[in-house]
Amino acid sequence: MNQDLNTASTQQTQSISRSILQPPADLQAQLQQIVSELSLVKLKLPDLPEDSPIHLWLLSPDMPPLSVHDERVTRLWQNTPYWSFCWASGLAMARLVLNYPELVAGKTVIDFGAGSAVVGIAAKLAGAKRVIACDLDPVSLLAAKHNADLCGVTLDYLSDINELEKPADLLLAADVLYDLCNRSLLDHFLSWAKSSVVADSRVRDFKHSDFTNAGCLESSTWPDLDESAEFRQVNFYASQGFEQWKMSLNKLSQ
Ligand SMILES: C[S@@+](CC[C@H](N)C(=O)[O-])C[C@H]1O[C@@H](n2cnc3c(N)ncnc32)[C@H](O)[C@@H]1O
Repeated sequence: MNQDLNTASTQQTQSISRSILQPPADLQAQLQQIVSELSLVKLKLPDLPEDSPIHLWLLSPDMPPLSVHDERVTRLWQNTPYWSFCWASGLAMARLVLNYPELVAGKTVIDFGAGSAVVGIAAKLAGAKRVIACDLDPVSLLAAKHNADLCGVTLDYLSDINELEKPADLLLAADVLYDLCNRSLLDHFLSWAKSSVVADSRVRDFKHSDFTNAGCLESSTWPDLDESAEFRQVNFYASQGFEQWKMSLNKLSQ
């Protein structure tokens, strides 16, 4: 990670570190196709270990508050660029694996519904052997690539999980159940990987025979959407290796 990029003109806003570094033109153009007035900035994520080098290209926190009626906000939600936020569950999962690298070290990990690829980047930094960022949105994979470059890690990319060559060791999925249609994906996670952990800030009635509740963490979407308290609690559901995840969550939430 090039620390120099951050030093000269860094402003502290809500503990956000911003840089004068220009966003990648192709990614910025994708955002501005949706809302031409908005822009991407390099943001440091909150609540991660001090030495974490994770910065991501995310929506500038200068955007209008979501609670305010604003035409730009309407356009943004009509065609949400999911990759331009780090969602609460992704941030919580990144925090967990960076604090307890043994959860992913040496494993082949799928970051399913990668968005910005925050989870995959954290897993790679924590020592995963290989990380496959999977997202059906091609712009998300572009964002994932730029973010991986920013963090100095190498990921693999996959747009269709059915093209996976062989099952991975671990499939991580953060905030992908927001769409009810995605609930059926849970039936397949254990055919794509030997074990799986799902983190979700939206679903309150999660029940699936392959998964057990492993605990929860407080988190928030970044930049902060000023969401209500109910969306700031991220629940974790784990298949095999449940005890290890449960113990790590317990320790981190104390
Ligand atoms: C709310 S975002 C979460 C992104 C990231 N995991 C995080 O926590 O910041 C959900 C992401 O899942 C992706 N997604 C939804 N359904 C998917 C599917 N069936 N296969 C792959 N990706 C999917 C979306 O394109 C989007 O990027």
